[in-house]
Amino acid sequence: MRMIPNNSGPGARVEDFDLRQPLSAEDFRTILRALGRYGVLCFPGQDLDAPQLAAYAGRFGTLEVNVANLFHAEGLPEIMHLSNMRDAAGKPLGLSDAGQGWHTDMSYSQDIALANVLHAKRVPMRDGRPLGDTQFLDMHAAYEELPAEVKQRLEGRVAVHDFEKFWDVMRMRPGSIRGPLTEAQKAKKPPVRQPIFRVHPVTGRRVLYCNPGYAMRIEGLEPAESDAMLAFLFLHQMQARFLYSHHWTPGDVLMWDNIATIHNAVADYGADEPRFILRAQVMASLDYAALAA
Ligand code: SIN
Repeated sequence: MRMIPNNSGPGARVEDFDLRQPLSAEDFRTILRALGRYGVLCFPGQDLDAPQLAAYAGRFGTLEVNVANLFHAEGLPEIMHLSNMRDAAGKPLGLSDAGQGWHTDMSYSQDIALANVLHAKRVPMRDGRPLGDTQFLDMHAAYEELPAEVKQRLEGRVAVHDFEKFWDVMRMRPGSIRGPLTEAQKAKKPPVRQPIFRVHPVTGRRVLYCNPGYAMRIEGLEPAESDAMLAFLFLHQMQARFLYSHHWTPGDVLMWDNIATIHNAVADYGADEPRFILRAQVMASLDYAALAA
C-alpha cells in the first residue's frame, strides 16, 4: 500500500491496494491511523460490489441504516445508493441530494460516526472535467487555529444538533423529493447534545466538532451569544487552507473521518449528467484508540 498525502489541506491517496482482499490486522491499523492523520483517503481504481463494500467498511465498525432508508442495495440496507439517475419507468435509483451543504454525518445522533466509505460507479462529466466534487474541511486544524479566548469560552460546552435542521434545508431545494419527516422518523432522531470539542480517538488531538448542517445552539449561552458564536465557528472552519475538494473518478473509494472533518457534496451537475455512488456509514462502535495504538 502506497500512501501519497495531498499537496495541501487534508487527504491522501492510497495506491496499490485492492479493497476486495481480506484486510489483515496490520493493514487495518495502517488505514485507521492514516484516516486519523489525513482525514480523507482515496483508494483509486477499485471495483467493489455492494457486499464487498459492506465487508470492507464493516471492519471499521457497525454499519448504519439511514433513518430515511429510501434507496439501498438489494438485500443490504446498510449500502445506500446516491444518484440522480432514474430507471426506464422514471423511478429514481438513488438519493439525489445527499449531503448538499456543509455537515457531519450522524452529529445529530447520540452515537456518532467514525467514517463514511463511498464508491463511485458513475461520475458526471462536462467538457472533460468531473463534476459533483465532495469537499472536506479539516477540523483538527480548525480547532488548533481557534483564538485562545474562544477555546477557553467553549471548553466543556455542548451544542444541540438536530437532524431535522439539515433535512428541511434539503427539502426546500428546487426539485427535492424529500417529504417532511414523519412523527415516527422524528421520534427516532430527537435533538442531541454534542461536545463542541472532542478528543479524536485515533490521533488523541482535539477537534472542533460543530457543523452548520445540524448544530442549532450552544447550551448555557444567551441566544444572541450562541448565534454569534456559531456564526463565528462556521466562518472560521470554512477557511481555504483547511479545504480539500475531491474530484471523483469512477472506481474511487473515498473513506473519510466523520469526527475530524466536515463535508459538502457540490451540486453543480444536471439531471442528464449521471452520478451513481455506493455509500456506507461506519458508526464509531469500536475502541479506536486501542486499535490504532
Ligand atoms: C454524503 O454526504 O454522504 C454525500 C456525499 C456525496 O455524495 O458527495
